[in-house]
Amino acid sequence: MLLVTGANGRLAQATIRELRTIAGGAAIAVTTRDPDAPAAARLALEGVEVRRADFADPESLPAAFAGVRKALVISTMAPNDVRFRLHANAIDAARAAGVEHVVYTSMLGASAEAITEHSRLVHHPTEEHLKASGLDWTVLRHSLYAETLLDDLDRTLATGLLRRPGGERAAAYIARDDLGRSAATVLANDDHAGRVYSETMSATLTGAEIAAALSTAAGRQIGYAPMPSAAWPAYFAEVLGLPAELLTSAGETMRALEAGEFDVVTEDYAAITGRAPTTLAEFLAAHPAFAAPR
Ligand SMILES: NC(=O)c1ccc[n+]([C@@H]2O[C@H](COP(=O)([O-])OP(=O)(O)OC[C@H]3O[C@@H](n4cnc5c(N)ncnc54)[C@H](OP(=O)(O)O)[C@@H]3O)[C@@H](O)[C@H]2O)c1
Repeated sequence: MLLVTGANGRLAQATIRELRTIAGGAAIAVTTRDPDAPAAARLALEGVEVRRADFADPESLPAAFAGVRKALVISTMAPNDVRFRLHANAIDAARAAGVEHVVYTSMLGASAEAITEHSRLVHHPTEEHLKASGLDWTVLRHSLYAETLLDDLDRTLATGLLRRPGGERAAAYIARDDLGRSAATVLANDDHAGRVYSETMSATLTGAEIAAALSTAAGRQIGYAPMPSAAWPAYFAEVLGLPAELLTSAGETMRALEAGEFDVVTEDYAAITGRAPTTLAEFLAAHPAFAAPR
């Protein structure tokens, strides 16, 4: 049996969609904290086995991993000071349940020295914990989701300006659906053990290049307005309607971008899937935000 955790999440949904196409006759199960939420409930109706699991509740985990041969453990969205423990709980439970192979979704540049706070405090220790677990393992280090470029799309279109830190510095992005495809491919095939993949588009992008792609997609001129990474938490908090204190880690991610931590291109996505990664122009053209005139 193949298992995907966090069934209500967007990466999980993309992965499960692809996995159901390519996994042949393999049984598929998913876990979620909330089996009654719409995405998980729909999967259950479609015949996917939905199990309740919360990495913060170790007692929920033995039954969640029972009978599973290979599991994709999707990193959580929780404060950085608790996330490593959540992931370690999942890995430990998988091993105890007899799972053979765990695939983990990490972050581009994860290391003990990474500037990106969650790479340093969450993904790096989780990778180390997994590698030391005795399980077969695969690490999928994701670059920045292309979707993050659209978090403030209304503001970008209203002002005609894409506001982002980075200046001339380029960074790696990738579409979440591509990451779902590659995660499903790794899960469904047995030749990826002991590999760390860093998944990026075929080119890195500067703010000006992203603004140019947005201009093409939107059919009107959008400029690029650089801002210092220190200003990002306040700006992003205002866009999201959240307190800026909750977004200090996002500021660190932008500081890492400025420092070049994401200025990396690899061919790992194509090596896994046999396909070229979606370009930013393709991603924007297919995105619902640009499907109808705004
Ligand atoms: N590279 C990037 O730019 C980037 C951007 C955003 C996020 N990420 C990371 O990638 C992950 C997937 O992204 P996404 O866009 O799919 O995020 P999302 O839609 O917000 O999904 C969050 C995921 O975390 C799971 N989760 C949260 N707390 C959990 C817990 N205590 N135990 C088990 N699962 C838990 C959720 O599962 P259920 O709700 O079904 O339990 C869900 O799958 C994120 O969680 C985050 O770690 C990366």
